[in-house]
Amino acid sequence: MVDPEAFVKEQVEQIQQIVDGPAIIACSGGVDSTVAAVLAGKAVPQHLTAVFVDTGLMRKDEPQQVERIFEDMGIELDFVDARDRFFDALEGVTDPEEKRNVVGEEFIRVFEEEAEGLEAEYLVQGTIAPDWIESGDETRDTIKSHHNVGGLPEKMDLEVVEPLYDLYKDEVREVARHFDLPVAERQPFPGPGLAIRTLGEVTPERVDVTREACAIVEEELEQAAEEGKMQRPWQYYAALLPVQSVGVQGDVRAYGETIAVRAVDSLDGMTASFSEVPLDVLDSISTRITNQLGDHVNRVVYDVTNKPPGTVEWE
Ligand code: XMP
Repeated sequence: MVDPEAFVKEQVEQIQQIVDGPAIIACSGGVDSTVAAVLAGKAVPQHLTAVFVDTGLMRKDEPQQVERIFEDMGIELDFVDARDRFFDALEGVTDPEEKRNVVGEEFIRVFEEEAEGLEAEYLVQGTIAPDWIESGDETRDTIKSHHNVGGLPEKMDLEVVEPLYDLYKDEVREVARHFDLPVAERQPFPGPGLAIRTLGEVTPERVDVTREACAIVEEELEQAAEEGKMQRPWQYYAALLPVQSVGVQGDVRAYGETIAVRAVDSLDGMTASFSEVPLDVLDSISTRITNQLGDHVNRVVYDVTNKPPGTVEWE
């Protein structure tokens, strides 16, 4: 386990040694990038600009929440609306690895453009150990290219600084608690966002469906945890599957897509077991999703796969 005080001291010194000019911090509002931002903010406040990219692939109301979190922490945020360019870049892309690479590359291009204006030379990222372990190298197989590792384009004009490179999620949370950050207990959310929870084509319309379904799953499981019906899972979300099946709506035949509900318990994301969600909670989730998203979705399934052999995300 990490000693937060010693870790912060060591990393602040290290960042100070590396970063001697303008730097940008990629902030998603998640615990990893927020901790990285705070460390960099302590180390080189004179050089820093925090950048948030709205990819259009975030969870419901997330961009506004992120703005608020940084405002509360007193860190100025440069907000970039890049929704159109992400959807353009993802047009026609259905392969999971290609999606990850497209999102990774687009992120870097946006940051490069922002950096150019600021004459920045460094990019601080919240990469953590499982990101690069699963992305593979000469000695490891690629499980999936995390957007901030394998997704990086070969030619990049910014030097990447990754203060959390050797930490696991639970250790990052320890550091976040040490700083008393409001995001310390937030569930993880993947960098490629809803693109990898929207299996098949990533269109704004399909992503809207995934976003709404994710919000329903989050609300229902958090409420169930508050009511003491279950423990809050480590991670919980909905994935939209491009699998159509026959159903009935009213007394009319329906032929819609499928939502897979995923909830897992884990310590660090490297292994996970599916959460034992009470059936009445699954019933509420299913009813709300099919009522609210009935134009698009007519079937809801619960994923009972552990990791391994599954992974937490579907792509
Ligand atoms: P998997 O699907 O690999 O997920 O079992 C393990 C944890 O990592 C998150 N994840 C990502 N996080 N960039 C990230 O920042 C990514 O590309 C990425 N892919 C997966 C996933 O949500 C889970 O918490």
